[in-house]
Amino acid sequence: MSEEIGSESNLASTRVAVIGLGYVGLPLIRACINAGYAVVGFDIDINKVASLRRGCSYIDDVSNCEIQDWLTRDFHPTTESIELINIDVFVICVPTPLTKSGGPDLSAIEAASHMIEERLSNTIHEVSKPLVILESTTYPGTTEEVVQPILEKHGLVAPRDFNLAFSPERIDPGNQLWTFENTPKVVGGLTQECADAVEAFYEPLTTEVVRVKGLKEAEMAKLLENTYRHVNIALINEMAKISHELGIDIWDVISAAETKPYGFQAFRPGAGVGGHCIPIDPNYLSHRVKTELGQPFRFVELAQEINASMPAYVVVRLRDLLNASGLSVNGARILVVGVTYKPNIADLRDSPAIGVVRNLLKNGAEVVYLDPLVTELTVDGRLITRHHSSAAPNEYDAAVILQAHDSFSFRDLSFVSERWLDASSVRPLSTGSGYTRI
Ligand SMILES: NC(=O)c1ccc[n+]([C@@H]2O[C@H](COP(=O)([O-])OP(=O)(O)OC[C@H]3O[C@@H](n4cnc5c(N)ncnc54)[C@H](O)[C@@H]3O)[C@@H](O)[C@H]2O)c1
Repeated sequence: MSEEIGSESNLASTRVAVIGLGYVGLPLIRACINAGYAVVGFDIDINKVASLRRGCSYIDDVSNCEIQDWLTRDFHPTTESIELINIDVFVICVPTPLTKSGGPDLSAIEAASHMIEERLSNTIHEVSKPLVILESTTYPGTTEEVVQPILEKHGLVAPRDFNLAFSPERIDPGNQLWTFENTPKVVGGLTQECADAVEAFYEPLTTEVVRVKGLKEAEMAKLLENTYRHVNIALINEMAKISHELGIDIWDVISAAETKPYGFQAFRPGAGVGGHCIPIDPNYLSHRVKTELGQPFRFVELAQEINASMPAYVVVRLRDLLNASGLSVNGARILVVGVTYKPNIADLRDSPAIGVVRNLLKNGAEVVYLDPLVTELTVDGRLITRHHSSAAPNEYDAAVILQAHDSFSFRDLSFVSERWLDASSVRPLSTGSGYTRI
C-alpha cells in the first residue's frame, strides 16, 4: 500500500478501484495503468467483466489489444466486492440516469457508496488514508449529502479516516484529439487535505489538474459545461427553424458568424441531443434548483423543450419535401443515414435518430437505416431493416442524414446521389434537385 497516493516512488504500490466499467471507467483505467497504478475494475454487470477478462472491449475508444495489455500488467476486473482489498483510491464512475418522473436517479451512486463503506470498514489502512472520488455527473451537493453520510454510517469520519473528493469526468467518446490524458481535470475536496490527496492522485494521469474551492464547485462546473452545450444547441435549433420560415440559410449564417475571431462559438442544428450527458445532466441541475430554491431553471427547461422537438421537426421538413414531389410520408421508403447520437461512436443511447425513426414508422413510412457502426437497430421492439449495398438507386423515396461518421464517406451514398451531402441534411431524392438542410 502506498505511503502517499500518486507520489512518484509509490505509483506501482497505489491500488485503485474503479467502480463502474463503462464509457468513463475504461478510459480512466487506461490512464491509471499507463501511469503505473495497480487497478481493480469493479462492475455489477457480469457480462462486461467477463468480456474484459477475455480481453474484449465493448466501447469504441478502447481496443481489445489495450485490454489484453492491461491484463498482462496490473489490471483485475471483477464483480466481487470482496476482491477490493487494500484499496488506496476508490473512483465511482457509475451511471446517473433520470427516474421515470424525470428526477435524478442516484441509486447506482448509493449502491457503490454502500459497497465502498463496507470495504473501508473492513480494511485497516495502516499507512495511507484511503481516498474516495465521485466522478459521476450529478447535482451540486451529492458528494456531501449522499455519498459522505453513507460512507460514515458505521463510524468512519471524513477526513479523519478517509479523504473525499469530486472530480467531474469530461470524457468525450469518439474524440481522438481531446482524451482523458490531455484534458484538464477539475478536482474539489471536502477539505484542503482531501483536495491535496485528489490532486496528487490525478497529477500522474493528466497534463493539468485544476483545483476548485470545494466539492460543490467541482460538481457545478460539470453541469455548467453540459448546460452550456444543451442551451446553445437549442438556440441554434430554434434559429434553424425560424430561419427556414424566413427563407434564410442558417448554415450560411453560421459560416459567416464563425469568422468572428472572438466572442462566438459555432453550434450546428441537428435532429436533437442524445447520449447520457447533454439531455440528462441539465435536468439534475434544474431538479436541484426546483427542490432547493423552489423556482424553475427556465433556460434548461426551454432548451429541453426545443431539443426534444427536433426529431418531429425533421419529419415535418421531410414531409414537406415529399409533398412537394407529390409523395407522402405514409407509404414512402425512407433511408435514415447515421443513427448514433454523435459521430464516430456506436452509442445509440437516447439518440434522436430513434425519435425520427419512431415518428416515421408512426406515420406509415417504411424505414431502412444505414450506419457503418451499428449492426442492429431496434425501435420500440421493432427491428429496423439495415440497408444492403445491393439496393437499387431508386429504391428510396428520400434519405435523411442525421449523423456523419469520419469512417463513412458520403461517396458511399453514390447510389443515392453523385452530389456531396452534408450531415444533418434532408434530401428529397425524387426531385433530384439538390439537398435541403434542416
Ligand atoms: N459517457 C460519457 O460521455 C460521459 C461523459 C462525462 C460524464 N459521464 C458521466 O459518468 C457517469 C458514468 O457514465 P458512463 O457513460 O460511463 O456510463 P456506462 O453506463 O457506460 O457505465 C457505467 C457502468 O457502471 C456499472 N454500474 C452500475 N451500477 C453499479 C454499481 N452499483 N456498482 C458498480 N458498477 C455499477 C454499469 O454496469 C456500467 O457498466 C455518469 O454519471 C455519466 O453522466 C459520462
